[in-house]
Amino acid sequence: MQQVRITRMTAEDVDEVSKLEQIVHPNHHWSKNSFYNEIANKLASYYCVKDEQNKILAYIGFWQIIEEAHITTLAVHPDYRNLQLAQILLIKIIEDCYENMIKFITLEVRESNIPAIKLYEKFLFTSIGVRKKYYQDNGENALIMFTQNIWYDKFKNNFGEIKNNIKKVIVNDK
Ligand SMILES: CC(C)(COP(=O)(O)OP(=O)(O)OC[C@H]1O[C@@H](n2cnc3c(N)ncnc32)[C@H](O)[C@@H]1OP(=O)(O)O)[C@@H](O)C(=O)NCCC(=O)NCCS
Repeated sequence: MQQVRITRMTAEDVDEVSKLEQIVHPNHHWSKNSFYNEIANKLASYYCVKDEQNKILAYIGFWQIIEEAHITTLAVHPDYRNLQLAQILLIKIIEDCYENMIKFITLEVRESNIPAIKLYEKFLFTSIGVRKKYYQDNGENALIMFTQNIWYDKFKNNFGEIKNNIKKVIVNDK
């Protein structure tokens, strides 16, 4: 897979996204209605990564709350992991943040989710606290992760390096 396409998630994508959501999160997945509500929310932006055959391989979403972005979900199909797809989606979100004059990006992540924590640390998110028993399915704690100000040189330089290391051709469909 040399080329991937990033598209805004639409109502036509929800069936496939919802199937992927159940594969990625068999015990605690969002409902289809949650996705329909999210894509209708004016404060939210959701994107999919699709391959040449239009298959959805990954998706991400965030809310803009004044000068903060809150990442609500990020999932990559288990057969397509370690192919930079999560990084490609995070890059898309961060570019949106620059366009929208956002300063900080935050999210919650399960404290046992090492792959995700490592991914966010690569983008210079750090853990600033814990929400105790945040996840209802197993009572697990959430780490609250935040970027520094994304307009600072340290963040921008790191972001530039990550972008330079992406090995795929990315087509952005608005
Ligand atoms: C976490 C997840 C989104 C990563 O997606 P991915 O497309 O495989 O990740 P990428 O290939 O774009 O990024 C790789 C980076 O992520 C981190 N990473 C990914 N998988 C990892 C693993 N198994 N162990 C350690 N670090 C890992 C590393 O920092 C890696 O960078 P490196 O290659 O320079 O070491 C994916 O595993 C997933 O969908 N998990 C289930 C859903 C989930 O946990 N979502 C996040 C909720 S907050």
